[in-house]
Amino acid sequence: MELLKQRIREAGIARTEEILDVSTFFNAQVDATLMQAIGQDFADYFANHEFDAFVTVESSGIAPSVFASLAAQKPLVIIKKSQKVLDDPRYIQQESFSFTKGNAYHLTTHLDFIQGKRIILIDDFLAQGSVVTNVETLLNKADATLVATGICISKDYQPGFKKLSAAGKDVYCQVHVTGLNPETNAIHIK
Ligand code: G4P
Repeated sequence: MELLKQRIREAGIARTEEILDVSTFFNAQVDATLMQAIGQDFADYFANHEFDAFVTVESSGIAPSVFASLAAQKPLVIIKKSQKVLDDPRYIQQESFSFTKGNAYHLTTHLDFIQGKRIILIDDFLAQGSVVTNVETLLNKADATLVATGICISKDYQPGFKKLSAAGKDVYCQVHVTGLNPETNAIHIK
């Protein structure tokens, strides 16, 4: 997706060899024009997929997925990160761990919103692939199916994209970053 590539080249910062800082336009300040274009690109890409709803995981996935939902005219369900196990049959949960942030949480959603549905997951970054795997497990608990995944930025130097592709998962990434150099701020994009 050319516009996202351009913004990453202009304003992305290689904080470390692994972390790409996109906070000036993506997840601290949000460029709504960019998000609208990202959402339209997802809607176009998934136009021939049969699905009932998008899901995303709070918080940085929300902006792109709201615009995807608007452009594709499909509902959007936001999966929350809860710190505790809820003793309430209206909710389903799946334990998850962020390798990037080093925190554990429970992906949590309302059963009624997803039960039996065909779902496309939208998320901002793909690193280890744990969110995708754990969202699929969560959906399966509600007899829902993960049809495909749309990612804004895949960090291909981390294992997520390779792992999911090898497992035969349908994953569309708008931008593939292949490497970062924090000393020169080089951001290598495929
Ligand atoms: P995985 O799902 O691919 O396994 O990734 P992992 O758990 O390791 O990390 C996911 C979290 O880390 C996400 O945030 C994602 O936005 C963030 N993240 C991963 N790599 C980068 C990066 O290079 N730059 C930035 N800025 N963020 C990165 P989150 O925990 O879902 O929280 P939120 O930021 O969406 O609130």
